[in-house]
Amino acid sequence: MSFDILEAMIIASLSGGGILKKYFEEENFSVSRKSVSYDLVTSADRESQEKIISILTGRFPHIPIIGEEGSKEIPHYREAFYVDPLDGTLNFVHKFPFFAVSLGYWKDDEPIAGVVYNPLTKDLFYAQRGDGAFLNGERIRVSATTSVEGSLLVVGFPYQEEGLLKTVEDIKSTMKVTDLRVLGSASLELSYTALGIIDGYWEYALSPWDLAGGVVIAQEAGAVVSAPDGGKFDLFKGDILAATPGIYRELVKAING
Ligand code: IPD
Ligand code: CA
Ligand code: CA
Repeated sequence: MSFDILEAMIIASLSGGGILKKYFEEENFSVSRKSVSYDLVTSADRESQEKIISILTGRFPHIPIIGEEGSKEIPHYREAFYVDPLDGTLNFVHKFPFFAVSLGYWKDDEPIAGVVYNPLTKDLFYAQRGDGAFLNGERIRVSATTSVEGSLLVVGFPYQEEGLLKTVEDIKSTMKVTDLRVLGSASLELSYTALGIIDGYWEYALSPWDLAGGVVIAQEAGAVVSAPDGGKFDLFKGDILAATPGIYRELVKAING
């Protein structure tokens, strides 16, 4: 892959992130509901997406872009950029400072490059396949944890009922071994797994834009990425487990036990 693609993704995520930060600080955004009452979109999401798309299409007009806002159907292109202009909108609306811009570039069903940017902390996570994962220019690695007991595990709550019921079952079995957290931004949860702070993270029924960026960052930092039942990860199904290799097998057992 040309370095230009990652560079353009970084520029786009910094621009989108700048828009989010401004709205977050000035608190002058409008909010509307998408599906359930906690599935929201704001003017910050929309403006961030517009800016990101204009930067990416300006540099790579031939690569299709799947952006969260305005997408009803999700086409499965051979190559595409996936754009989540604000991952963690509910956090953003409530002024919980844990959200990010998430961009992924996939080709032939493989993650090629990912960027996740938290504009409040200025944490810029990025990776491209085969070259390792980085936070603000420094190489990052998953944790060296070897036991689920006492590890830091994070789970997400899906909007859709089937996934939510499955999550409740998973929590019942996993809580026998350790405590759990829910942080509300899939891309940052994957990036913190890459950074070695979170030891394992799983969630069901996410969308491609939630995961396309974070997956390659987690993998390049050494995480094992699969479906929560241990099957192959599918970007379009959106069921994900990412964990440090030292606990991966034990965690699959604990979740499905
Ligand atoms: C959401 C976040 C959250 C996850 C939701 C996602 P959004 O993305 O990633 O962590 O639990 O399922 O939809 O809507 O804030 O971009
Ligand atoms: Ca999202
Ligand atoms: Ca979003």
